[in-house]
Amino acid sequence: MNKYDMKITLIETKKEKTQSDQLGFGKNFTDHMFIMDYTEGKGWHNPSIVPYQPISLEPSAMVFHYSQTVFEGLKAYMTNDGEVILFRPEKNFERLNRSNNRLCIPEIDVEFALTALKELISIDREWIPKIEGTSLYIRPFVIATEPHLGVSIAKSYKFIIIMSPVGSYYNDGIQPVKIVVETEFARTVKGGTGEAKTGGNYASSLKAQVVSKKMGYSQVLWLDGVEKKYVEEVGTMNVFFKINGEVVTPALNGSILQGVTRASIIELLQHWNIPVSERLISIQELYDAYAAGELEEAFGTGTAAIISPIGELLWLDKKMVINNGEIGKLSKQLYDTLTSIQSGRLEDSLNWITKIECKIPQ
Ligand code: COI
Repeated sequence: MNKYDMKITLIETKKEKTQSDQLGFGKNFTDHMFIMDYTEGKGWHNPSIVPYQPISLEPSAMVFHYSQTVFEGLKAYMTNDGEVILFRPEKNFERLNRSNNRLCIPEIDVEFALTALKELISIDREWIPKIEGTSLYIRPFVIATEPHLGVSIAKSYKFIIIMSPVGSYYNDGIQPVKIVVETEFARTVKGGTGEAKTGGNYASSLKAQVVSKKMGYSQVLWLDGVEKKYVEEVGTMNVFFKINGEVVTPALNGSILQGVTRASIIELLQHWNIPVSERLISIQELYDAYAAGELEEAFGTGTAAIISPIGELLWLDKKMVINNGEIGKLSKQLYDTLTSIQSGRLEDSLNWITKIECKIPQ
């Protein structure tokens, strides 16, 4: 079979599609999903689009025991003209392969994955919410399915894409969040899996999240896992600071996720001739900048929340209230510009948008 010959099984929707801006994040799923198998010796095969449904795995499937799994997150938007667009989707599939590589999972053909995704979106395009601030969140992922309890590289996998209409990642929209600097737990270390988008990184982050919530904070600011000195990420996002007119973000060092939103923010700032640098940032430097009145803005970036302003940072007994706890001017400008480009409301002058030809008229 030609690898582009996809088996498509359609169902008629019975689910209610909400257009509300109160959709929340990742709770409802569209009618269909993409699924493809890998078996050693045969490679990736049997690509199909099927009704969204439970999958059946043996309890001994290796993913349940040794976490051999990777995932991605990207969004599709419906423009005011009824066009369906994606934001830099090739970057996500390229990163998926880098994660695959780190987790010893066989790579996926990027061009084919994009073709499959476009077909899936085209079929379920009525699920794309149209209200400003909403989108269709796309979750590609790979799991090791071989039934085997030995610790080794699995011989079989599934690559699946599911989709969920979403509103704002946070219940109260783009409001500054209170963050506590994590001084005990580590998300990952250099040489670990921090750069890969793999479930284990997120599982290991939960304990710190629980502790921060008990303290009345939303999330944690992760420091490097060895010296607990240098800033790495915030919650599940990359992190940026505006210090005395310059925007700084931790340089990619092997334990920081190579965020697509992170890269886009850097490119946008360069395009606007606003000084931006990727470098080591110590928590002491941040505190000194704060004490000198130079820590002007702070925000996290990720596909889910796009930009999440930080209104307060607590480092041990030192509290830093940033920009009076309000969203900064530049953070807002970046959020507005990026979301406008992503949703097709602003011209795509940086060539980030992929249009989807929807073949089946509805
Ligand atoms: C993102 O910000 O896009 C993330 O990766 C968070 C996701 C795990 C919900």
